[in-house]
Amino acid sequence: MKNNKFTLQCVKCGQEFDGFSEWFDVNQVCPQCNSKHVEAVYDDDLTGMKNLLQSSDEQVKSFWHYFDYLPLISRDNIISFGEGAIPVERWKFLEAYARDAYGLHNEVWVYRNDKNGGTGTFKDIGASLAASILKEHGIKDYVVASTGNTATAFSRYMSKAGISTYIFMPVDALKASESEINVYGQKVFRVQGDYAKAKEIAASFAKKHGFLMTGGNVDPLRVESKKTMVFEWLRQMGKLPDVYVQALSGGTGPIAIDKALRDLKGTEYDNPMPRQVLVQPDKCPPMALAWERAVQNNFPEGWDTNFPVIENPQTRVPTLATGKPGTYPLISHLVKDSNGSIIQMKEEKINDIARWMAYETSIAMGPASAVCMGGFLNALKQGLIKDGESVLVNTGEGVTRAPEFMEEMIYVTDDVYSVDDCKLHDRKGLREVLRRKAVER
Ligand SMILES: Cc1ncc(COP(=O)(O)O)c(C=O)c1O
Ligand SMILES: [Zn+2]
Repeated sequence: MKNNKFTLQCVKCGQEFDGFSEWFDVNQVCPQCNSKHVEAVYDDDLTGMKNLLQSSDEQVKSFWHYFDYLPLISRDNIISFGEGAIPVERWKFLEAYARDAYGLHNEVWVYRNDKNGGTGTFKDIGASLAASILKEHGIKDYVVASTGNTATAFSRYMSKAGISTYIFMPVDALKASESEINVYGQKVFRVQGDYAKAKEIAASFAKKHGFLMTGGNVDPLRVESKKTMVFEWLRQMGKLPDVYVQALSGGTGPIAIDKALRDLKGTEYDNPMPRQVLVQPDKCPPMALAWERAVQNNFPEGWDTNFPVIENPQTRVPTLATGKPGTYPLISHLVKDSNGSIIQMKEEKINDIARWMAYETSIAMGPASAVCMGGFLNALKQGLIKDGESVLVNTGEGVTRAPEFMEEMIYVTDDVYSVDDCKLHDRKGLREVLRRKAVER
């Protein structure tokens, strides 16, 4: 299918592909240089962006608002559950905490990915774009390797597109993800090993059957959708934040932000990269460890390819369990160029953090979001956020993705046998207790 909208360009050698038909024909590998990394380049010079960014919330029904800058040719192929039409909210209690605890005056914005229409995670927009493009190209079978949230989102959207999906998950992936995928009739292979092993078997399976497979964190199917996050922040906040906080697994988020900013270069929305503060749980922190080592040694020769591999990570947040961080060479430079950091948070704190957040906001968050919030609290403590800066915390998921985690939230229940056992409850008094538990090390 010829298209006049965009080309895909090999990042390594510059080879051009006429959209996804040519890219799929070469099985998503550049025949010139073997790179799997292509980027979408649009024929249009983004003059239409101004109009899109002046739209009201009511006009934005999904991230497809930005159709003109997404690599789909016909709107007829859109597979959508209303994803990406989510608010950025100011969380004043976190601003008050930064002020009271550290004397800092910050705007703290939270991007509510739990409100995504598909599966309530920030994987929904990627799944929507992928399903739509695969449908446009008549693809019938697809292979996905994922720690859980991508798998679940892709399964749902591919079902709607009529595409059979083979999902390869690591042994520790959440039962809730597995069951949701099964509900849609998509196939799960629970690989008896970690995520790296799941990816390896998935790739062999795709090759054996001649099926297409997700192209990882740099896959334009994902990056191009996630880039619309930046457009939405500009539309809703009227600016970009100074600091960006996200839980880090493979790093599609920062890669997509960088792509959006390069697309916007030369327009009136030209902005520098917000300082990236990326967070890993301490039970699976390979990129944070590599970063700490690089900082300690003042970024010696080869620092960006020197990272540990954590085999079979024992983490309670399997969504973030990328123990072998193949994208570190890319992510580390995005972080360094933005003057950012890759930090750790103590995984044992996630229940306390999620309880405090839910108490203050009435929003129950999933474990990966609690990791992200824990990173924000650590960043305050470590002086990574300066007075007067605006901070955007990209929480990735609501708690529906992790019912086991929801059960661990129970802390106000008493077992009773008679009315005499039923003590009055001081809900107000909880505030201080929850805050203290969440922020103490
Ligand atoms: C809820 C949530 N937060 C954060 C991440 C990390 O995403 P990435 O590192 O690919 O940007 C994921 C990915 O699995 C996720 O599902
Ligand atoms: Zn190439």
